[in-house]
Amino acid sequence: MSGLEACLFDLDGVIVDTAKYHFIAWRQLADELGFVFTERDNERLKGVSRQRSLDILLEVGGLSLSEDAKAKLAAKKNGIYLDYIRKMTPDEILPGAQEFLWEFKAAGLKTALATASKNSALILDLLKIRPLFDVVVDGNKVSRTKPDPEVFLKCAEELGVEPKRCVVFEDAEAGIEAALAAGMFSVGIGDPAILKKAHIVAPGLGGISLEEVVLAFDPGKDRA
Ligand code: BG6
Ligand code: MG
Repeated sequence: MSGLEACLFDLDGVIVDTAKYHFIAWRQLADELGFVFTERDNERLKGVSRQRSLDILLEVGGLSLSEDAKAKLAAKKNGIYLDYIRKMTPDEILPGAQEFLWEFKAAGLKTALATASKNSALILDLLKIRPLFDVVVDGNKVSRTKPDPEVFLKCAEELGVEPKRCVVFEDAEAGIEAALAAGMFSVGIGDPAILKKAHIVAPGLGGISLEEVVLAFDPGKDRA
């Protein structure tokens, strides 16, 4: 199939609409700290680890805090986030995502979840979608956050597939940069004006077919 062997999926904002809960929780923290945090600011937090997200949030607010204070704030944010997450049901899987993944698996392609989140096991259980993935690499398994390619390279290694045979589905700018740094083909999920560096962009997994991905995937492209 045109050299394509594996599909790597980000979780938050690609498979499930948790991106909105991350935003709500960070905005609540900013409110309490006394500054405004906008959706535009939030784009910078997508795809990056909780610790890095907090650093960016504090930069937006012009605040500098001790490591101890930061650890408390990160734990607080996660508490707010988990209050939303624990109420989630499979209805919150984004439209078309499950069907899309099963289509890939049926075509003999390998699938992996590649996320910065440390809450992925809970989310996969609540949504009952663990069987969709041959491999899961999350924030507990990597030490460097996107845009570093570590999470994607680890997926390729665990799947036993060369990076250039992988396609990445990502809603974050940092995630697209990480995919490119890994030498992988990237499909941006969301707004083409934001995901300018992606090879192709779709509004959601329900808005693109396996055939379109296979056609766009160019094994002749000189990727690392
Ligand atoms: C990414 C999200 O998937 O996971 C980021 O896009 C988030 O916004 C990161 O900060 C870490 O998530 P968690 O669940 O470990 O706080
Ligand atoms: Mg995401």
